Amino acid sequence: MAFDSFRDFVNALDAAGELIRISQPVATELEITEIADREMKLPGGGKALLFEKPTVNGVVSPFPVAINTLGSHKRMAMSMGAESVDEVANELGALMKAKPPTSFKEAIKLLSLALDLRHAKPKTVKSGSCKDVIQKFDAPASSNSWPPAPDWQKGTNPNPPTLANLPILKCWPLDGGRFITLPCVVTRDPDTGERNLGMYRIQIYDDQTTGMHWQLQKVAARHGRRYYERGERMPVAIFIGGDPMFPFAATAPMPDGLDEFLLAGYLRKKSVELVKCETNDLEVPANADFVIEGYIDPTEPLRDEGPFGDHTGYYTLPEPYPVFHITAITHRKDAVYPATIVGIPPMEDFYIGGASVKLFLPIFKMNFPEIVDIALPAEGVVHKLVFVSI
Ligand SMILES: Cc1cc2nc3c(=O)[nH]c(=O)nc-3n(C[C@H](O)[C@H](O)[C@H](O)COP(=O)(O)O)c2cc1C
Repeated sequence: MAFDSFRDFVNALDAAGELIRISQPVATELEITEIADREMKLPGGGKALLFEKPTVNGVVSPFPVAINTLGSHKRMAMSMGAESVDEVANELGALMKAKPPTSFKEAIKLLSLALDLRHAKPKTVKSGSCKDVIQKFDAPASSNSWPPAPDWQKGTNPNPPTLANLPILKCWPLDGGRFITLPCVVTRDPDTGERNLGMYRIQIYDDQTTGMHWQLQKVAARHGRRYYERGERMPVAIFIGGDPMFPFAATAPMPDGLDEFLLAGYLRKKSVELVKCETNDLEVPANADFVIEGYIDPTEPLRDEGPFGDHTGYYTLPEPYPVFHITAITHRKDAVYPATIVGIPPMEDFYIGGASVKLFLPIFKMNFPEIVDIALPAEGVVHKLVFVSI
């Protein structure tokens, strides 16, 4: 099932009794984390939470914060429009069984064909709700852009948002600052033009610069190295929200070169509609809630990112990463800001990672038929421990 916006998904969760609305003001600095952490620790992952009046430095943000929306088996399945993730995995497995692959490389090719069978290829459209409000930053952002004017929701606000006033969380006391925790990062291979979508946390340095925490082995980091070698500016687009299949696809272990938007389109049973960014040539989903456009300058030195309270339940210490410069922020009029927190397990990422493994199990099984099942126990903090039964 395709959701037209993150708000649509939140409303579906609400109708299914899977959402708690919090109408009191709650601070984006540490308070939302405290409440969300308690909820995520409940048996089965608790409920999704919608903070209707998140505050940034004491001022209520116009954008509600949704958190723990994928944090249970049921909500993960709902995001795919299915009764269970197994159901989706079995369907994908059946599609691929038509012609069993003889190698892992062939399995990947087959996966691409299987995804395509549903006519799930992304398509480019002229415009979309992600551009209801457009703010470009060719000149420095105005310093008086906060608090928002009352006509904000009509998209006519003369001072649309800067990073400083989106309801971005400071998760843990010793974190290096505020972090976007469910960002979908779009990059392109400068040699082949192939696109990648990955989830890499974004630390806010100031109104117009952030960190870019793609670990060395990630696809976007490989793209980045090519831009550094070529000495060319690297365009990057970060989007937040839209269909919940976007953040899921961004975290899924898709092979380098296979488009995550194809997977998202397959899972939501509808092609992803993409629009070109305002200030670079990358494309983002037309129905995203927020889009942050910009670039990385290969001549600029790396900058320390972190510390950050990480998946392990410990802080990762500051390490040098590229700096991302923002050239535009666009958003829907009725945008919802989706977030998550990571930390001492179990957290929401346990359900996201579990769904990924289920989905890709039929592909592993084709190459290793002796595999019966795979589990990522919560204690293994998603990617540090895998049980395989054979
Ligand atoms: C909530 C969450 C946060 C994540 N944060 C990061 C991160 O900061 N850096 C990173 O390299 N990977 C992070 N990951 C893992 C990547 O999203 C994952 O490895 C993904 O497959 C990367 O895509 P790629 O293989 O296309 O690079 C995160 C995953 C989740 C679920």
